[in-house]
Amino acid sequence: MAGKIPNDVIDDVRSQTNIVDVVGQYVQLKKSGNNLFGICPFHDEKTPSFSVSEEKQIFHCFSCGRGGNVFKFLMELEQISFPEAVVKVADFVGFSLAETYRPTQNVQESSEVTQFKQLYRQANELFTHILMSTEAGQPALDYLHERGLTDQLIETFSIGYLPDQADLMLSFFQNKEVPYQTLRQSGLFIETQTGKLHDRFSGRVMFPIRNAQGEVIAFSGRVLVKQPDQPKYLNSPETVIFNKRKVLFNYDLAKTMIHQERKVYLFEGFMDVIAAYSAGVINGVASMGTSLTTEQLALLGQQARELIVCYDGDRPGIEAMKRAISMLQQNTKLELSVVVLPSGADPDEYVRQYGAEQFKTTLQNGVETPIAFELRYLKQGLNLNNEKDQLDYVQQALAVVAPIESPLEIEIYLKQIEADSGISFATLKRQLQTLRVKRATQQPLAPAPSQYDYDLPPEPGTPIDGPPPIPGHPQATVTRQPQRLTRVEHAEQEVLHMLMENDDIRLQLENNADFSFVHTPYQLIYELWRAFLAEGKSTLADFMGYIPDDLQALVVQIDALDLPEEASQEALNDCLFVIAQNNIEEQLREAKIALKEATKLGNASEETRLTLEVIRLVSQKKLGN
Ligand code: GTP
Ligand code: MN
Repeated sequence: MAGKIPNDVIDDVRSQTNIVDVVGQYVQLKKSGNNLFGICPFHDEKTPSFSVSEEKQIFHCFSCGRGGNVFKFLMELEQISFPEAVVKVADFVGFSLAETYRPTQNVQESSEVTQFKQLYRQANELFTHILMSTEAGQPALDYLHERGLTDQLIETFSIGYLPDQADLMLSFFQNKEVPYQTLRQSGLFIETQTGKLHDRFSGRVMFPIRNAQGEVIAFSGRVLVKQPDQPKYLNSPETVIFNKRKVLFNYDLAKTMIHQERKVYLFEGFMDVIAAYSAGVINGVASMGTSLTTEQLALLGQQARELIVCYDGDRPGIEAMKRAISMLQQNTKLELSVVVLPSGADPDEYVRQYGAEQFKTTLQNGVETPIAFELRYLKQGLNLNNEKDQLDYVQQALAVVAPIESPLEIEIYLKQIEADSGISFATLKRQLQTLRVKRATQQPLAPAPSQYDYDLPPEPGTPIDGPPPIPGHPQATVTRQPQRLTRVEHAEQEVLHMLMENDDIRLQLENNADFSFVHTPYQLIYELWRAFLAEGKSTLADFMGYIPDDLQALVVQIDALDLPEEASQEALNDCLFVIAQNNIEEQLREAKIALKEATKLGNASEETRLTLEVIRLVSQKKLGN
């Protein structure tokens, strides 16, 4: 392991660095006023919201909320650790850093790690050699060819084969005089009670599992012909180099495209990833036969904005997809969508049966939001002419819709439920409102966009700007606040401040059917406030007890806004204008998603309405620019 870099060394490196030079390597910066501006490298955008302050030596994106010092910049951009970022910056400015702080492979890795990696690499070479160039490999090669894998593809994934020959791998390593203890702990062998080692894998097609750097760290072996008493796939056990929670199959090859397209496909099996790759979908990964972990999600979240789950189209696949979605919805800010391949096929079967083009088309046209997917499957097995089934459906469907943020989306799903159940839109909407308030008062909220974008503790040495924590409200310190609110958020806070002070304003807003807040927490505070008043209560202190913890700090912040005592109609109108205008882009994005949904659902009148909405928003956006 490299030694811990002392703080004074870190400070020296930083003080000798100009963040502008480092950032300038990645982002084209233009000076404007005191700061430099550019297109944020962390997300897609057309107008620059990314700024660098030479004076303060920090960067900040007003749009995605990311910010920090030069180390943080490199950590985020290159997905490296804090010490690695320090080393990188040191090298960039020519700072002579003691070798002991350098986490280069040799210094950082224990000799065990290095040895194991070497073993796995050699084992992989052995397997590929056997598969491609020996007679013993022929049955496996035939099998793979039969499954539609070309030699090129076999090579790309360095697939190999270990024949069913007693301890072939063991002799291979013994010939190389690898120490017994190393072999014993490598995970490549199993040990008998008497301490003898045997090949763990044999008679299996060997898929190497590689880490993000492309190093082989484990294997998954597939039997050629499935026998009833054998597992189809056998995975390496966890070792010092292999933690299956952190590894994603094919991430090493996929990561560049994931970053470029901001999009990643999650498949169920290795063969699906490989088939998708052969069809030109190279940003696909699979977890190790288990559900996705938070570690894997964090990894993907750094490169992608959108995660498309494409599991097998059969019953178990659909059930797995549902589980994955509910887990993902709670754990990620990635935009989720789902593709169900027709007729129960898995991607591998689908590609082989219908070809690459058809597969790509289906991946594109078949995406649906998790909500549409869930509603579709809720209906299966129910008889919606039967009153009980109908009520069950409505109840479950509303629960699915309740967490949605976008009013446009809510509307389209409610219309769908109306069409399915025959229960009127107005009734559904009222029920949904009640459900949302109940949810919010019962459970903590998921983090909202922009303002709450940070849930990672800041790295040491990263300055934290933003308002000081609010006393008595510990939640306020948990999430990091960016240096300032966006204009629209400011307007939203102001409106809430005004309406909580002046009930006329609430009445005014309630009469405006088009009005809604842009960001869910504000919309929720609004809805909760109205429900609260409806219960005949009115004091802010009581309101605090009424709402979830997550929202309390925000309400305190809103209450503390320094605004004139008497809210003027003019100020209100200004805010409403900002809320309506500033968010056209967001609305447009949502309208497009909703439109796609309507098309999928075959709802022609909604399709027309939304098409007009998109056109209206586009022209409104043009006017605004
Ligand atoms: P093929 O039959 O080769 O097409 O595999 P598949 O990708 O269609 O596999 P399947 O859908 O049956 O399973 C998906 C994934 O689950 C596989 O890629 C494995 O990671 C995992 N898996 C399947 N069977 C087993 C098993 O018996 N043991 C373990 N540990 N994992 C399995
Ligand atoms: Mn398959």
